Amino acid sequence: MKVIDLGLTGKRTLVSGAGYIPQRAGHGRFTALALAAAGASVACVDIHEGRATEIATEIEKTGATAIPVIADMTVPAEVERAVAETVRGLGGIDVCVDIIGRASWGNVEQLSHEVWDETIRENLSQVFYLFQAVSRQMISQGSGGSLLAISSVDGITASAYHAAYGAAKAGVLSLARTFADELGRYGIRVNTVAPGNVGGGNEDQPPGEYAVNGINPLAAPRAHDVANAALFLSSGLAERITGQTLVVDGGATIQSLWGLRPGDAAEFSETTYLAATGQST
Ligand SMILES: NC(=O)c1ccc[n+]([C@@H]2O[C@H](COP(=O)([O-])OP(=O)(O)OC[C@H]3O[C@@H](n4cnc5c(N)ncnc54)[C@H](O)[C@@H]3O)[C@@H](O)[C@H]2O)c1
Repeated sequence: MKVIDLGLTGKRTLVSGAGYIPQRAGHGRFTALALAAAGASVACVDIHEGRATEIATEIEKTGATAIPVIADMTVPAEVERAVAETVRGLGGIDVCVDIIGRASWGNVEQLSHEVWDETIRENLSQVFYLFQAVSRQMISQGSGGSLLAISSVDGITASAYHAAYGAAKAGVLSLARTFADELGRYGIRVNTVAPGNVGGGNEDQPPGEYAVNGINPLAAPRAHDVANAALFLSSGLAERITGQTLVVDGGATIQSLWGLRPGDAAEFSETTYLAATGQST
């Protein structure tokens, strides 16, 4: 049997925010494990030493190579150090995935400027710091590479009661397109994944439970669905894909505006249409 090669064997990857907080989605952990399973070595960057070590150890137990790197990735000097430590530990960087991000909540008319600034830094500025530092490294290596950030459907639709988060995530989409445009000449690809309502992970959902809520025509996405999208875009299968956003939302953002259900179709026969539009004979 011929097996598809993802082209990730031996690729040196940096995952920013690779640690796992059980009550959250686990995008870092699932993505780091997926990249390692595809043959990549992984620098597991996290602000929390225990979580960085835990995911690196979990990967090493699978037989893959991983190193923990502890850094606050919202601080430019820390980002530079994390990139340098990754290069020292793995020998270079071919693939980079930025997981970090967090919503802040409040009505637009009350959102404080401090919360606005902090949310933009945590969700947008840190992506710029990381992409800039890693792209310099990739350009110096001269062998291309892949950069990817986790955005959100909130960067595509309105983002009610978390305006700063939505604006920052929309900024991530724009930033990735610009990096993609400027860095294509070096063979560096830059893409984004926009998850829908993964919430605390959704890994407990039974498979095949489709259309059980009004949000997702298919089903709510899970953390491993987001990891699979990140894996694809980071892989050789996507070698001519750049500046793109892969939305992983169980169809939430593509629903038609009319709220129709299967039984409603009978109501919309040609006759009713003609009658409603004054064209019946
Ligand atoms: N869960 C969802 O429904 C959903 C939907 C859309 C987008 N997202 C996006 O997914 C990402 C978060 O995924 P998650 O909830 O699995 O991650 P998380 O919040 O659990 O964080 C993952 C790791 O990042 C680390 N981290 C946080 N700030 C850091 C910093 N400044 N420096 C270094 N490490 C840091 C944490 O310690 C943690 O171990 C965000 O970008 C979020 O916007 C989530």
